[in-house]
Amino acid sequence: MARFLLVIVLTTVTSLAAQVSSTVSDQTGAVSFNKDVLPILQRNCQLCHRTGEVAPMSFQTYESTRPWARAIKEAVLSKQMPPWFADARYGYFRNAPKLTESDIKTLAAWADNGAPEGDARDKPATVNWKDGWRIKPDVIVSIPEPHNVPAKGSGEIKSFLVPNPFKQDTWVNSIEIRPGEPSVVHHVMVQVPEDTPGPAFSWGAVSPACIPQASEAFLESPVGIGTPSAAQVKRPKNFAILEAVYVPGSPVTDFRYENSAKLIKGGGNLRIEVHYTPNGRAVADQTRLAFAVASTPPERKFIMLAPKSIANAKVPIPAGEANWETRGELEFGQDAQLVWFMPHMHLRGKDMSFKLIFPNGRMETVLNARFNFNWQLGYELDEPIRVPKRTRMVVVAHHDNSPNNPFNPDPAKEVAWGNLTSEEMVLPWFGVIVDRDADPEKLLSIRQGGCSPIRRVLSTSPVRLPTVPILRNRN
Ligand code: HEC
Repeated sequence: MARFLLVIVLTTVTSLAAQVSSTVSDQTGAVSFNKDVLPILQRNCQLCHRTGEVAPMSFQTYESTRPWARAIKEAVLSKQMPPWFADARYGYFRNAPKLTESDIKTLAAWADNGAPEGDARDKPATVNWKDGWRIKPDVIVSIPEPHNVPAKGSGEIKSFLVPNPFKQDTWVNSIEIRPGEPSVVHHVMVQVPEDTPGPAFSWGAVSPACIPQASEAFLESPVGIGTPSAAQVKRPKNFAILEAVYVPGSPVTDFRYENSAKLIKGGGNLRIEVHYTPNGRAVADQTRLAFAVASTPPERKFIMLAPKSIANAKVPIPAGEANWETRGELEFGQDAQLVWFMPHMHLRGKDMSFKLIFPNGRMETVLNARFNFNWQLGYELDEPIRVPKRTRMVVVAHHDNSPNNPFNPDPAKEVAWGNLTSEEMVLPWFGVIVDRDADPEKLLSIRQGGCSPIRRVLSTSPVRLPTVPILRNRN
C-alpha cells in the first residue's frame, strides 16, 4: 500500500516537474513491468493473452505489452477485462477472476508512469503454459475435417455431427474440449442430439392458458415391464441436456464434485457446436474433445440441463424494446445440489438471474449476471448449494432490442424465438448433482414454462444491474 501512496505522490511531483520525472521514478523503484506488472499479467491475463490463444495480443513480454499500457489501464478500471459479468453481490464462484483492486491500481499506476520496464533482475520466471491435454484422455474425437475461418466477418455458429465414441451409456469423470485454433473459437458446446428429428429445441410448448401447473414429469408413471434401469440416461421432458462446454480461459469441466460423474448416452451421434469469430487471419480449426472415463460407477450423477422454452414462443420481441422480460419457474422434484450456471441467449441478450425459493420460504439469489454475446461464460459455484425437493428456481432474463445494444444488428426488426443467431433464445443452463439412481425425468418440472405473462418492464425492472460490476476481492 505504501508503494501506491508513493506512486500517487510521485505522479503529482512529476507532473509539476516533468523534466525530472523518469529519473525520480527510476531512483525510487516506482511500479515497473518486471517487478509489479508481469506477475499480475501472468496470474490474470496470460490465460488468454498469449501467443496462439483467443486474445489478439500477447502480454508475455515487455515489448508486446508496452503498446497496450493505456488500454490495459482502461480495460481493468472499467472491469471490461478480465471478462466476468456476475453481480458481485450474489454467489461465490471458483472461476471468478482473481484480479484485486490493488492489482488494478498497480496496472493503472504503471500506465500513468510511462510504463517503464524496470530491472531485468526483478522479472519473475516465465510461465510454462501447458500445451496439450490437461486431462488424461481415454477417448478422443474430433470434428470431421479442418473448418476454414476467413480473416474477416461477423462470425458463425457451426454444428458438426460426429459418431458417438461410446456404444453404451458410459460414466465419464471429465471432458476436455481443445480448439485446434483457439484464436478463432469463442465457445464450443457438445450435446447428444435428441432422437426425434427436427430442431434441437422446440419452441411451441406454450400452455393455452397462463395457469401455473406442474408438468407431467411429476405424475408417477406406473412401474412395470419396460421401466428402464434407474441409471440409464433419459432425457427429461422439456429439458435440453448439455454434455460439455468450452469458453476461452475456463478450466476443464470436471464432474467429480462429490463422488459424482457424468453419464453419456451411448450410440448415435454427438453434436459439436462451435462459435467461430474471425481474428484478422484466415485459419483452419479442427476442434477435438477428450473423455476421461470413470473406472468405477460413481455415487452421484452430474447433469447439465436447461428448460427448452421459458420464453413465450408466440410473442416476438418488439423492435426497439430495451428491456424485454422473460420469466420461468422450475420446481425440483428430488433433492439435488446446484453447482454451475451458464446463461445462454443470442445477440439481444442483456441479463439473466437465478433465484431459489426453498420449501421453508427462504429466498436466495444465486446468480445475477449481465449477458455479453461474445462471452458464453459459465459460473462455477465455490460450494454446491443443497436444494431440497420442492425448492423452486425462478429465472428472469431480459433482452435488449434497442439501438443501445452494441451487438444489435437491426433494432428496427422484431425478433422471433428460435435457434438461429438472428432469432432469440433464453436457455438458463445449470448443473446439478443428484443421486446416481435418480430419474432425470422426475428431477424438475417447469411450473410456468413459457406461459408467464409477458410484461413490458421498461424502467422499473426488478433486476437492476450496476453498469460496472464490482469484482469480488477475496484477499
Ligand atoms: C478469458 C480470456 C481473457 C482474459 C482472462 C483476459 N482477456 Fe483481455 N481480451 C480477451 C479477448 C478475446 C480480447 C479481444 C476483444 C474481445 O474479444 O473482447 C481481449 C482484449 C483486451 C484488451 C483490448 C481492449 C480494447 O480496447 O480493444 C485489453 C487492453 C485487455 N484485453 C486486457 C486484459 C488484461 C489486463 C487482462 C488481465 C487482467 C485480460 N485482458 C484478461 C480475452 C481475455
